[in-house]
Amino acid sequence: MRIMVITGSPNTEGLTESCATAAKKGIEKGNGEAIMVRLNDLNILKCEACDQGWGICLGGTCKLEDDFEKVHEAMDEADGYVVVTPVYFGDMSESVKTFFDRLRRCEANKSIREKGNKIQNKPFICVAAAGGSGNGTLSCLANMERLFLHLNKMDYTNMPRFDYIGVTQTNKSYMLDSIEASAFNMVKGE
Ligand SMILES: Cc1cc2nc3c(=O)[nH]c(=O)nc-3n(C[C@H](O)[C@H](O)[C@H](O)COP(=O)(O)O)c2cc1C
Repeated sequence: MRIMVITGSPNTEGLTESCATAAKKGIEKGNGEAIMVRLNDLNILKCEACDQGWGICLGGTCKLEDDFEKVHEAMDEADGYVVVTPVYFGDMSESVKTFFDRLRRCEANKSIREKGNKIQNKPFICVAAAGGSGNGTLSCLANMERLFLHLNKMDYTNMPRFDYIGVTQTNKSYMLDSIEASAFNMVKGE
């Protein structure tokens, strides 16, 4: 099983990175392949909300020329996802938001009109890594859930979620183990 681990922190040695490393460990322990994507290392422009609100993204692609499409395409090849974001203002980080804003446009509409999209029906683990008060961890996870709901035809009943994990300064000593276990179990299909 090939799992894409997507992170969105500017910090290469912070909590987000530790969470991603834990996920990678779990994936590899389960004999899966971990594809690591650091969004902050890529050039991903913000959505321009073309024309009256929709551009060619209605058909599944974006007109902007940057690193978006190569990640978008690679998502098709993946069997599941782990998304790790630092909690910023109770929400996903800007790099995660910017990438998923565009992905949602390209895939959400397609999933409704056609039989499926690149993300639909694949399991995912969402991790919100909060290093401060921990306030906003839940709202961040709720927004991530909403995001994957759009990528799964707004179908809560058949959405193949796997886990939502909130990591804070106080629980990180044991939650990193939980991320590893969660990723392992996802790969094993357990
Ligand atoms: C702009 C900004 C906003 C933040 N907002 C929150 C927040 O709402 N709640 C919280 O618990 N921590 C917040 N933090 C702290 C980060 O979530 C924390 O430092 C996290 O560990 C960052 O991930 P990193 O270690 O990968 O950099 C914020 C940090 C920044 C830079």
